[in-house]
Amino acid sequence: MRIDVLTLFPEMFSGVFGTSILGKAAEKGIVDFHVTNFREYSNNKHGTVDDTPYGGGGGMVLKAEPIFGAVEAVTGEAKPRVVLMCPQGKRYNQKLAEEFAREEHLVFICGHYEGYDERIREYLVTDEVSIGDYVLTGGELAAMVIIDSVVRLQPGALGNELSAVTDSFSTGLLEHPHYTRPAEFRGWKVPDILMSGHHANIERWRLKESLRRTIERRPDLLDQIEMTKEIKQLLEELRQEKEQGEA
Ligand code: ADE
Repeated sequence: MRIDVLTLFPEMFSGVFGTSILGKAAEKGIVDFHVTNFREYSNNKHGTVDDTPYGGGGGMVLKAEPIFGAVEAVTGEAKPRVVLMCPQGKRYNQKLAEEFAREEHLVFICGHYEGYDERIREYLVTDEVSIGDYVLTGGELAAMVIIDSVVRLQPGALGNELSAVTDSFSTGLLEHPHYTRPAEFRGWKVPDILMSGHHANIERWRLKESLRRTIERRPDLLDQIEMTKEIKQLLEELRQEKEQGEA
């Protein structure tokens, strides 16, 4: 997979792209990162990339020429998805991460201004994405969040292939609790069932605890999962436990 980032602050990406899972994925050739300073594509000798808005008013607007020039330079004849980072975009989630992870090439545009010239949105960009309902000083951190979540889904990027499959959200549920040694820490014990060696019971316990956590923290996610017979039964058990707790 190739990932291009267009930014005025390329230095922000060196740590993130060179470290940990992302750094290893690049070393292994799973992902190829390219960071371009789109100031290089400014159409004037001062390297200007923004200008005042037509119609007046405050703030600056990112010009079309440097962004079109930079995108066209990194894409050539190909038509990859071109993702514009902005708070008005579609809200990012694991489903979109999985969709992006299937692409061969992604281009991210990161801005730091009041706005983008509307022709960038209309004629260049394929996706406008926001990572949440808050405003960052620029799109760089948002692009890093997205790229991290996409690269870790590439086959071979994570040491343990299973961990991406059982992640919170990829199953549609939040993850169950985890424990490791010691079996007792400051008087707090690991649930007996996890040390029973009985795999079917352990899997059932994990699914039940995933459901419990999802009900408590993100009940909205339950509407979207497939209701198997086992899940229905576990939900009924949780409902009964709650009733007994309240009685
Ligand atoms: N740029 C500024 N704020 C943003 C956000 N929340 N998501 C994506 N890009 C942004």
